[in-house]
Amino acid sequence: MSDALLDRISAAKTLPELDAVRVAALGKSGEITALLKSLGGMDADTRAVEAPKIHALREQVTEALSQRKTALETAELDRKLATETIDLSLPAPDSVTGTVHPVSQVMDELAEIFAELGFAVAEGPEIETQWYNFSALNMPENHPARAMQDTFYLEPRDGEAEARVLRTHTSPVQIRTMEKSGAPLRVIAPGRVYRSDSDATHTPMFHQVEGLVIDRAIHMGHLKWTLETFLKAYFERGDIVLRMRPSYFPFTEPSAEVDVGWSMEKGRRVVGGSEGWMEVLGSGMVHPKVIANCGLDPDEWQGFAFGCGIDRLAMLKYGMDDLRAFFDGDIRWLKHYGFRALDVPTLSGGVGA
Ligand code: PHE
Repeated sequence: MSDALLDRISAAKTLPELDAVRVAALGKSGEITALLKSLGGMDADTRAVEAPKIHALREQVTEALSQRKTALETAELDRKLATETIDLSLPAPDSVTGTVHPVSQVMDELAEIFAELGFAVAEGPEIETQWYNFSALNMPENHPARAMQDTFYLEPRDGEAEARVLRTHTSPVQIRTMEKSGAPLRVIAPGRVYRSDSDATHTPMFHQVEGLVIDRAIHMGHLKWTLETFLKAYFERGDIVLRMRPSYFPFTEPSAEVDVGWSMEKGRRVVGGSEGWMEVLGSGMVHPKVIANCGLDPDEWQGFAFGCGIDRLAMLKYGMDDLRAFFDGDIRWLKHYGFRALDVPTLSGGVGA
């Protein structure tokens, strides 16, 4: 019987199987328990012979059970260790997937460059009243200049005399800033603007940066120096040449459109030199009527303003040629032209990132 029990113990393949053998041997109605019970019915001589054998058998079976249990537990642990592994040597993803959009990057570069010249950053709403977007800028109703910009008009709200518009330029921020901060002031105002226009070089939403300086005895020389200093810092070249052409904006007098010289480098047109010209911004001396509209005395305060397309600045510096791709959200484009989050532009480190 002892051999049969020992065989069953070593044949048990799982802990529950082994426990079943233990119950069959040592449980209440187990075989060895029954043997122990039979001792009571024996005469003294027989018991003296049988008792040590039965106790020895119980020892042997208990020992075998315990050894088998340890063996099964060790095997189970080994199996878990072999199968439940975490490979800590897996490579991390090769790059962080998010990038900073070139428009955001250029806005940061502009803020950095103009901060050095003492300009703060100002903001205004994208949904504007016609007063701020047009009238205060010397474009009264029925003024032909309103037709120069293809305006998106909103449905008038109940009780609203005049429909609001999606701002067509960042110039309304000029008015809001003068009203709020008075004079003197120096700000740039980057942001989104909207016009009903769409082709390879126009999108219904695009970005502009407005510049405004109001102070005493400001003249066009200040404007020209500021633009030259800005464009040299932005394009990181000393050979930036500007050409100012007389132009017309209702809110500046005189007004000038500013061209920047380009030249051919390795078959590409790049900013710098003066083989040809391209227009980069509109500018002028703030119209006295605009200054008066903001509650300032135009005899005391003068200033200059300029407005410049940010998307175009980005294209010229970083070499994209289709404006529409800026707003497609194509992950391949963003990966290629986007900037790493830590490429913060600084004047000392190079605004080019
Ligand atoms: N707001 C004008 C435009 O969008 C640009 C501009 C701004 C011109 C400031 C002169 C002064 O075309």
